[in-house]
Amino acid sequence: MKFFIDTADIAEIRDLAATGLVDGVTTNPSLIHKSGRNFIEVVKEICAVVEGPVSAEVTATEHAKMLAEGRKLAKIADNVCVKVPLTPDGLKTCKALRTEGIMVNVTLCFSAAQALLAAKADASFISPFVGRLDDVGSDGMELIEEIVQIYHAYDSIRTEVLVASVRHPIHVIQSAKMGADVATLPPAVLRQMFNHPLTDKGLAAFLADWAKTGQTIL
Ligand code: E4P
Repeated sequence: MKFFIDTADIAEIRDLAATGLVDGVTTNPSLIHKSGRNFIEVVKEICAVVEGPVSAEVTATEHAKMLAEGRKLAKIADNVCVKVPLTPDGLKTCKALRTEGIMVNVTLCFSAAQALLAAKADASFISPFVGRLDDVGSDGMELIEEIVQIYHAYDSIRTEVLVASVRHPIHVIQSAKMGADVATLPPAVLRQMFNHPLTDKGLAAFLADWAKTGQTIL
């Protein structure tokens, strides 16, 4: 399973990329706003830090302009993945960009029907938002299960399931159990995944006993 990080904060990206566990990055207009940075500049910088796909979202809502924006974003770096919303114009743009060999992440997916359409449009990634579904009383993980089941039923579907709007490590564990291809994690969630109180307690005990031996390895 691949881990992307869901942020436009370059300091966080550098820090987490250094762990060797980051396979890509997702951004969206809200995350760009939060970063306070120029969109094009920050995407360029992220693409230089992380080798894998870096999602950069179009902001036009009409096909011709979306396509122009997508082409411009794709020119920033080879690893830019153009993000389009799951609308009729977004999917038309997805199909066009894919025929040009550009990676596309279809975002704001909230149903299996939408995910099926994105696969038909040959999206590189489909982003179902689990946390936002949970927020309105639907089970976000049930949607992941459905999409994985549908995509696995057809060898012709190349679209990867990218679990988005992740709120906690349990979303990640459940996604992995279901066979989702990718999860995009807020930095805090990736950090939480390292933690277990028994690891801390066990390490402290080992180090205390090691100190008593008076030995060093190096
Ligand atoms: C995905 O690509 C989105 O940027 C993101 O996961 C949205 O998450 P949110 O619901 O926490 O804003």
